[in-house]
Amino acid sequence: MNKINIRAYNPGDRTALRNLCCDVADRGGPIENFFPDREVAADLLTRYYTDYEPESTFVATRENRLVGYVNGCTDNRRYGLVMFWLLGPAVLAKAFKRGLFFRPEIHQLLGTVLKNWRRIFVWRKRSFHSHQGHLHIGIAAEARGQQVGRQLVDILAAHAEGKGITELAASVHEANTAARHFFQKLGFTVAESYPMVAIRDGREEHYRSLLYVKSIKTSH
Ligand SMILES: CC(C)(COP(=O)(O)OP(=O)(O)OC[C@H]1O[C@@H](n2cnc3c(N)ncnc32)[C@H](O)[C@@H]1OP(=O)(O)O)[C@@H](O)C(=O)NCCC(=O)NCCS
Repeated sequence: MNKINIRAYNPGDRTALRNLCCDVADRGGPIENFFPDREVAADLLTRYYTDYEPESTFVATRENRLVGYVNGCTDNRRYGLVMFWLLGPAVLAKAFKRGLFFRPEIHQLLGTVLKNWRRIFVWRKRSFHSHQGHLHIGIAAEARGQQVGRQLVDILAAHAEGKGITELAASVHEANTAARHFFQKLGFTVAESYPMVAIRDGREEHYRSLLYVKSIKTSH
């Protein structure tokens, strides 16, 4: 099997990264399981990282094909501000232009966005107002179980440490057992857990989101 290469993200990876993120967004399955518009979802899930802090994203490729990524942020407060003031309004405008608000399923989804928004900002106030870091990771099904995720988190942790960050966090759906094992193996522990709601098959799904956190060494 050909070797997997781990390297820094470059803008030429953007389309493939957006696609891979949407392919694995539902605990390893496609975003369409719970959100109808891939383009809007990719903006929400990846645009901060690719367009506002690209130096903290790393990718894995095999034969020039993107098979993994870690989207990193080394300043949660900046992330919150960019999402709220810049990306949020831009994504809303895009969603409107694409007719998303005229689709019947969207009204139920908007209800959950409001509930989750309130919950995230109340429950996770401390982490959103910190200048610590967080990450999202996705590995293509055919590249899982080959230490690719571990290498990507390691390279991000070294980069974050160089920026003086002492803590990296990742949010995980409680039913995502693969990700839970993965983060535990990498030395993350659950620091917070808070209730969330999603729409699955037209019905509300209530679950807990687990905030996995790892302290990273820093010489600063
Ligand atoms: C979770 C995920 C990132 C793991 O990536 P991966 O490249 O397969 O993981 P690695 O091969 O680097 O494994 C690192 C360690 O985690 C463990 N691990 C990974 N997946 C596991 C699983 N499904 N069950 C048990 N342990 C697992 C490995 O055994 C390994 O431990 P070891 O080093 O002691 O052998 C990958 O399955 C994925 O992309 N899932 C879909 C997206 C997702 O859920 N992202 C997380 C939310 S941010």
